[in-house]
Amino acid sequence: MAIHIKSAEEIDKMRVASRLASEVLQMIEPHVQAGITTQALNDICHEYIVNTQGAIPAPLNYRGFPRSICTTLNHQVCHGIPGERVLKANDILNIDITVIKDGFHGDTSKMFHIGKPTIKAVRLVDLTYQAMKIGIEAVRPGITLGDIGHQIQSFVEQNHCSVVREYCGHGIGKAFHEEPQVLHYGQPNSGETLVPGMTFTIEPMVNAGKRHVRLLPDQWTVVTKDHSLSAQWEHTILVTDSGYEVLTRRPEETFSYDA
Ligand code: MF3
Ligand code: CO
Ligand code: CO
Repeated sequence: MAIHIKSAEEIDKMRVASRLASEVLQMIEPHVQAGITTQALNDICHEYIVNTQGAIPAPLNYRGFPRSICTTLNHQVCHGIPGERVLKANDILNIDITVIKDGFHGDTSKMFHIGKPTIKAVRLVDLTYQAMKIGIEAVRPGITLGDIGHQIQSFVEQNHCSVVREYCGHGIGKAFHEEPQVLHYGQPNSGETLVPGMTFTIEPMVNAGKRHVRLLPDQWTVVTKDHSLSAQWEHTILVTDSGYEVLTRRPEETFSYDA
């Protein structure tokens, strides 16, 4: 199976699906407060995606996933299932949104602090954002996937945190997860070379402690083995002729487009 290079028409559809995913994160922000359950956040997002956006929440029934979004808290790493857990002060929460519009997927996630965050949590969340940003800003035709992974890993490890290895970014398009795998660690000058028209996610999971993870008995929720805090951010990226476009960029975000 080869990496699918998107046509101009497909890129336009990726732009739309990605913008919708980013708009769900903007819509949900004021609701992310102490006292609300993750199930309620799921229900608000589901309703908005289906009825306002006329789109499909990709996680729902994906390989049996039972909800429309992922909500991942504190020492959880990814794929948290919304439920009756009530958000409280000092929690950190990742909300991961993937929508399907006109047959194409847009996938993005961000971290939220509940109440007044601890210094440790702020440091981890900011470091993880920087790690994602370093990966994104490296993207241009001619570099390799290994170059991206290496830059992310070096930055994270210089800051005495660790990169989760079991989960990675991915090609995205008509399929939720397609080739290539985008590892957040690796060696420079290795792996696939980027070419214009590729679309993939960059979504590093960074642990404050050791990199090892464990799967909970619900068969979805991934947690850190050492119970240390974990954070993740995600964007869907297009490789352009001269650099990249962050298809899921929110208005408050800036990237040094080398374009
Ligand atoms: N959105 C996740 C990703 O970034 C995948 C979630 S799969 C689900 O790839 F089934 F848990 F939704
Ligand atoms: Co993804
Ligand atoms: Co995602």
